[in-house]
Amino acid sequence: MSLTELQTPTTTEVRVGRLEDVPPGEGRAFTAGDTQVAVFRLRDGSLHATQASCPHAGGPLADGQTDARVLVCPLHLFGFRWSDGASTSGAGPLRVYAVRESDGDLLVTL
Ligand code: FES
Repeated sequence: MSLTELQTPTTTEVRVGRLEDVPPGEGRAFTAGDTQVAVFRLRDGSLHATQASCPHAGGPLADGQTDARVLVCPLHLFGFRWSDGASTSGAGPLRVYAVRESDGDLLVTL
């Protein structure tokens, strides 16, 4: 095993809830073990997931507004790109997670 393989962090896919728990166009917060995640279901059917708490000052990101590119925190309106979690307005980056639906379950890779 190479040094690169040893340093690669392990990831785990975790069931956090059901697709119907998240109305189209909205986000919801879920608990996955010790991790709080916010899952968004866009009106086009796509899913996005991130940490539930904003890196700026802890705002509830599941209550934020989003489109396919940017999530806006409801507390101070900082924006974050879904593509890489980077802030569009000067805050620290978000952690973004892969998320998919399987048989109605929401599966987030932590
Ligand atoms: S807490 Fe999210 S922008 Fe300030």
